[in-house]
Amino acid sequence: MIRRLKTRPPDHSELAGLSYIQSLEHKRTYKYEKVYCVDKSPLDCNFPVFFYGKHNGGGPLFIDYIFSKKEFLEEHKDCKTALEVCSGPGFIGFYLYKYLNLDFINFVDINGEVEQSVNKTIQHNNVNGKFFTSDALDDYTGDKVDLIVMNPPFFTTEEEFNKHIEICGIDNKESIERSRLITLDKNFEFHSKLIDKCLDILTDNGRIVFLEVINNIEPSKIINKLKGGKRMTNRQFKVESQIPNYYTLTIYKM
Ligand SMILES: C[S@@+](CC[C@H](N)C(=O)[O-])C[C@H]1O[C@@H](n2cnc3c(N)ncnc32)[C@H](O)[C@@H]1O
Repeated sequence: MIRRLKTRPPDHSELAGLSYIQSLEHKRTYKYEKVYCVDKSPLDCNFPVFFYGKHNGGGPLFIDYIFSKKEFLEEHKDCKTALEVCSGPGFIGFYLYKYLNLDFINFVDINGEVEQSVNKTIQHNNVNGKFFTSDALDDYTGDKVDLIVMNPPFFTTEEEFNKHIEICGIDNKESIERSRLITLDKNFEFHSKLIDKCLDILTDNGRIVFLEVINNIEPSKIINKLKGGKRMTNRQFKVESQIPNYYTLTIYKM
């Protein structure tokens, strides 16, 4: 379904019938600050994550479908430290900080705009963590970690990206550029850079979890680039779909 993106934020009735990805693109036009709640009590939010719609890359959805699942939290319960790469506002990282009871959580994103929101969440919730503006891991100078997680851009060609823009009905320049930053890893460049360095950032007990879209990046594409890594697990997920459309690929350093 193609619907033109409005210059004003759409109301909820206008989003009915859109796929999750389409409605996310529309919600990226919201200009005001919002809160995602990592720890809710009936009357309060005990752990707010501050964000702007324009920086939401789907983290809350993937927490619901993947990162909050017992299997994920059990598999990584021995982790004490973590880094979320491609963090945006840090939904996934802050969630894991809380539910894996981490000693620290660091964040990396190429878009320095999100630093303010991440720092606000860190201060508000008294989190031990730090944000780094960096292209992949190039400028990450923090400590090694037990766990690297990410929800990275998933299109690897301009053709795939342009089709997405057309399906979502995006036609203003600002929204197209924002979407490009969030969804396009042209020629797999980000992944290649990250894969080159990721094992160096992991502790001996460390592992990296790629969250990917099956139709766009096959697991073999990542595995073939990685030199090292002893053990891996690969799980498929249905995210708002009848067929598995996402997967996690976890690669253990040792
Ligand atoms: C799909 S969004 C995920 C955002 C957030 N983690 C979430 O789940 O909502 C992808 C993120 O990757 C970031 N990004 C794109 N290219 C990058 C690069 N080369 N290095 C680091 N981050 C990058 C974008 O700025 C964006 O925040």
